Amino acid sequence: MPAYGVIGAQWGDEGKGKIIDFLAADASIVARYSGGNNAGHTVINHLGTFKFHLVPSGICWPHTVNVIGNGVVIDPDVLLGEITDIKSKGLDTSRLVISDRAHLIMPYHVALDRLEEKRRGSSAIGTTGRGVGPAYLDKVGRSGLRAGELLNPEDLMLRLPDIVKFKNELITKIYGGEPVAIDSLYEKTTRWASELAPYIKPAEDMVFDALSAHENVILEGAQGSLLDLDHGTYPYVTSSNATVGGALTGLGVGPRGFGGVAGVFKAYCSRVGSGPFPTELLDKTGDHIRTTAHEFGTTTGRPRRVGWFDAVAGRYSARVNGMDSMIITRLDILDGFDKIKVCTAYEIDGRRTDKFPVDTVRLGRARPVYEELKGWQGTTSGLTNPRQLPTGAKDYVKRLEVLLGVPTSIISTGPSREETVVMRPIMGR
Ligand code: IMP
Repeated sequence: MPAYGVIGAQWGDEGKGKIIDFLAADASIVARYSGGNNAGHTVINHLGTFKFHLVPSGICWPHTVNVIGNGVVIDPDVLLGEITDIKSKGLDTSRLVISDRAHLIMPYHVALDRLEEKRRGSSAIGTTGRGVGPAYLDKVGRSGLRAGELLNPEDLMLRLPDIVKFKNELITKIYGGEPVAIDSLYEKTTRWASELAPYIKPAEDMVFDALSAHENVILEGAQGSLLDLDHGTYPYVTSSNATVGGALTGLGVGPRGFGGVAGVFKAYCSRVGSGPFPTELLDKTGDHIRTTAHEFGTTTGRPRRVGWFDAVAGRYSARVNGMDSMIITRLDILDGFDKIKVCTAYEIDGRRTDKFPVDTVRLGRARPVYEELKGWQGTTSGLTNPRQLPTGAKDYVKRLEVLLGVPTSIISTGPSREETVVMRPIMGR
């Protein structure tokens, strides 16, 4: 099996880290292709509990090369902190590769992210404040700095004064913020160069070689398709392409290398930050799901907004990613519900539609049309065999399959690697 996309299908936090750790048993490469340390991927296995922000979720396997692709933006301080942390837990980081074409998040990007959010006031996006948007802005504006430049830090430092002068004018004169000290940037650049240099390589060559040898490569999605810069709920989105298209440009692979795309869906929905969320539950049911599922951000600790499964958004997500299967996580959170609702259409300005609208203002006025399904009383928590699933849970999954038009490959029934039900093998698992 060649390259296989494992993509967030909703608004992020679908539990991709756990799934990728499970699937990586048969992968020679796990490669991140978009986003930055706005992501938080939790992996729990016999080695411990890990919260990765930049390091791909295959790092726990001794045979897997973990690539941070050119489409990712990297805060070197965060990455170095993560490398130190995982080394201290006994993991080998020698199989970590940073694409020399990946852009760097600099301290002025973090400052600008926070200042811009403050300026937006009541229309703030609710970014993670990690400098991700401003770093991509510089990439597109052709004034970014790339990881490969850390291999020649003297040349990079020659570029810094001009860049920092302009950024500090923006920070102080437009936003009234505190300027970034260039001396500290020289010091950081020197440290980053010496500590990160061993990891910086032409990553696309490694991915190409693995695919040519017919080895499994997992394309690790970050965030979710509905936060995708082009296909998400713009402007309440992140600044990169979380959908599978981002993997082509974000890693330098061609479509011929693709073996399939699995979309990771939570059995319900969640969203962090601002933006329309038609099935949001602002009542006791929402509080119950948030508390039981511990829906608080891995990166920022913010409480997540939660709601019923949205099949209108889900079907759209399945289409823009060309999904051939879905992976359902956190099914156990719905254990014990008498009734479970699924949104099958929206009513917008008195009209019913099953299409996901491009206009975020219209989406904000969408009233969900629900179908009510019977819940189940038994537990799904920790199950590993499809035959053990309660009838109500099987019916729920089957209904989602029909509504989205894709079969289910995997159901996750708990946070650990083993708490996994394979319905239909993918990637040899
Ligand atoms: P940014 O990516 O920090 O610019 O934030 C833009 C939007 O994407 C905000 O609504 C964030 O809450 C959301 N976001 C970014 N990364 C994640 C993630 O990993 N999970 C969920 N939401 C995210």
